[in-house]
Formats: sequence, C-alpha cells, structure tokens
Amino acid sequence: MMRIVLCFIFISANCEARGKFAAVISQYQDTIKEYRDICLEETDTKPNKLESLLNHGVYDKIDDNLKCCLRCLYLKLKIFDETGKISEETMRKTSGTENLEVQDMVVSKCQFRNANLCEQAFDISNCTYYTVKNVY
Ligand SMILES: *[C@@H]1O[C@H](CO)[C@@H](O)[C@H](O)[C@H]1NC(C)=O
Repeated sequence: MMRIVLCFIFISANCEARGKFAAVISQYQDTIKEYRDICLEETDTKPNKLESLLNHGVYDKIDDNLKCCLRCLYLKLKIFDETGKISEETMRKTSGTENLEVQDMVVSKCQFRNANLCEQAFDISNCTYYTVKNVY
C-alpha cells in the first residue's frame, strides 16, 4: 500500500514539473514573439530548427544560421549589446520564469562571453535552457 501511495505522489510531482517547464517555454515564446520572424528571415534560418531548439532543447549540431538567429534575438531583446556586454536585469526578465532563485542561477552560471556574438548567444541560450529545465 505504501509503495502505491509513494508512486502516486512521485507521478503527480513529475507531471506538475512538466507542466511548469511548458509554462516557461510558452512565456519565452511570448517574449521573443515580436522579433522571431524578423530574426529568422535576417539569418535565413528554418523556423522548425528554432522551434526544436526552444521546445525540445536540441542544442547539439546546430548550424551557424541558427546561432546567429539567437544573436539577433538577444540583441533585439537587449540581453547583450553590440559589444557583447550582458544586461543582468534583462537576462532575468527574459529567462521565462519569475522565480528569483532560478533567475539567480541563470545570471550566475550563464554569463558567457565570446568575441563571436553568435557563439555567445548560443552558449547563453543553451545554459539558460538547461539551468531552468533542471529545476522544473
Ligand atoms: C549545453 O549545456 C549542457 C548543460 O550545461 C552541456 O552539458 C552541453 O554540453 C551544452 N551543449 C552544447 C552544445 O554546448
């Protein structure tokens, strides 16, 4: 009996966590909505590649176009400027979550710098995705 109860608790906790990460993704989609199409077009990126990155965390073997699409989004959202200088405040606001502890983790772990801003955006994005996903 105890085992059944424990299983049940585990399953519902898991479901709730999944629901929360879906909410993060959907908030993030909302954040980039205004610039999504402009950046896809500007960098000649296939929309489904951006979608699988955002929705499923497909960060390995991605092409330069998609990395530069992230750069475009990060510049438009002002997460960093043309020199690569990161705004911590904006990084928090655009993290997809209002949870301050999760935001703290993102700003302490994910402030990557790289002379190539496409790579910089890619590193920050990957780090943000997996940092947040690990919590939820
Ligand atoms: C993305 O982040 C994860 C978790 O920190 C890391 O293990 C992985 O190597 C990164 N992926 C890429 C392609 O950099």
